[in-house]
Amino acid sequence: MKILIIYYSQTGNTKKMAELVAEGVKSEGVDVELKNVEEVKARELLKADGIIIGSPTYYGSMAYQIKRLLDESVEFHGELAGKVGAAFSSSANVGGGNETTILDIVNAMLIHGMIVQGDSSGDHYGPVAIGAPDARATKQCKRLGQKVAKLVKKL
Ligand SMILES: Cc1cc2nc3c(=O)[nH]c(=O)nc-3n(C[C@H](O)[C@H](O)[C@H](O)COP(=O)(O)O)c2cc1C
Repeated sequence: MKILIIYYSQTGNTKKMAELVAEGVKSEGVDVELKNVEEVKARELLKADGIIIGSPTYYGSMAYQIKRLLDESVEFHGELAGKVGAAFSSSANVGGGNETTILDIVNAMLIHGMIVQGDSSGDHYGPVAIGAPDARATKQCKRLGQKVAKLVKKL
């Protein structure tokens, strides 16, 4: 079982979130690989049981580096079905579009036929941070890692 966490981060905030999500995955005893999107080839998505993607919020959506990977993943359309997916984002502002960013990533995951779990009491769509993760966002990131790991184990 392996969970691949992919992020893009220009100033380090999303990278910090990714590291916290990885901690959550590890705490459930599941292998995790943490990668900058610029080191990831779409083919690598095939090897993971769970795929978690983080992006800074850019104009209310994902950075183009993440979109490029998702577009390149069309080569494997249908082959990611049944894998667990999740997303997270850092933005500068409250109401700055971090949830729409997550939903854009999750949208592509659903089109791939992936399984995305919401959260009834934490950040509903996925963890969000304003700038670097504070104590609240840190908790949400670890929680996401745990939830995805638990679901991967269940499946
Ligand atoms: C091109 C660009 C567009 C951005 N658009 C938004 C935006 O729409 N809303 C927002 O709140 N922050 C926006 N930001 C700010 C970043 O989302 C924010 O600084 C984030 O924490 C950066 O994450 P990083 O440190 O992982 O690069 C934008 C930043 C850049 C460079």
